[in-house]
Amino acid sequence: MIAVRGLSKEFDGVKALRSVDLEVARGEAFGLIGPNGAGKTTLIRILTGQTPPSSGEVLFDGEEIDPLQPGYRLRIGLVPQEPAFYGRLTARENLALLARLYGIDRQSASGRVEWLLSWAGLEEHADRQARHYSRGMQQRLSLAMGLVHRPDIIYLDEPTSGLDPEARVSLWGLIDLLAGEGRSIFLTTHDMEEADRICDRLAILVEGSVRERGTPQHIKGLLGADRVEMRLPAGSEGELEAVCGRLGLSWRREGEIVTVTGPELPDKLPEIVSTLAGRVSDLHYREVTLEDAFLRFMRGVD
Ligand SMILES: Nc1ncnc2c1ncn2[C@@H]1O[C@H](COP(=O)(O)OP(=O)(O)OP(=O)(O)O)[C@@H](O)[C@H]1O
Ligand SMILES: [Mg+2]
Repeated sequence: MIAVRGLSKEFDGVKALRSVDLEVARGEAFGLIGPNGAGKTTLIRILTGQTPPSSGEVLFDGEEIDPLQPGYRLRIGLVPQEPAFYGRLTARENLALLARLYGIDRQSASGRVEWLLSWAGLEEHADRQARHYSRGMQQRLSLAMGLVHRPDIIYLDEPTSGLDPEARVSLWGLIDLLAGEGRSIFLTTHDMEEADRICDRLAILVEGSVRERGTPQHIKGLLGADRVEMRLPAGSEGELEAVCGRLGLSWRREGEIVTVTGPELPDKLPEIVSTLAGRVSDLHYREVTLEDAFLRFMRGVD
């Protein structure tokens, strides 16, 4: 649905993006992860028509477009890094104002506003000034604001940063609903649990360049790997080597603890245990997290 080709952006000598190529399919949830200053917000700003690229192109449904053009902007929604609504207006007033700005007629606008208030769980607070809302309520309002005009794709810049765990899960629920309706989602985040839970595919952006891309599973497999740790006294290395060789696994020993890694580990575990029966104790299965993989990846990047 959205593709960028050779997209670069320079701010007075600072190369914020260096020839980025990305694609987001219809109905896909795509995540951009990377450290502070990597260029994530800059990419979202370009894709939402807030700043022009220095070079490169943006394609929407296969056709090159200028994201600064209003026609395209009517088809996208944005939840910016900082909440953008009028604090002195209520949620209902903010949504109604935006619906009018989008040119939605009064009657449909009113139905849309009520639907969004209920969708975002803001009905009870709909007539309070938005500046008095908790951070979680503000983010739910920001999300509803991004959806007033039923966009095909919604851009979310760190949607849950600063939210408490409950508010974070509540926002994830809303994002899941959007994905379920077949809308495309383009999200930036520092939260690896969020990236893993929500995104179908991820790209790692470092210093303006895409360094890796793929499913969360692929990114986890790049550097991190599921592993089994067990206590195994010295003297069983021959059998361990034989069973791991047969199953395509690798192992290493640190003192009494042996760590085994490799693909499809859970299915192979029973055979390892039965081969070493009676000698293995304290067996733990450790699933790699996206956070492990990302941190290891970043340590390897200079
Ligand atoms: N308006 C601007 N003028 C000058 N430099 C800018 C501007 N906007 C961004 N930059 C620079 O571009 C680079 C990328 O910034 P950007 O905000 O896109 O990073 P980010 O990945 O969103 O970081 P964070 O995780 O902290 O939100 C940084 O070096 C930043 O200083
Ligand atoms: Mg940012």
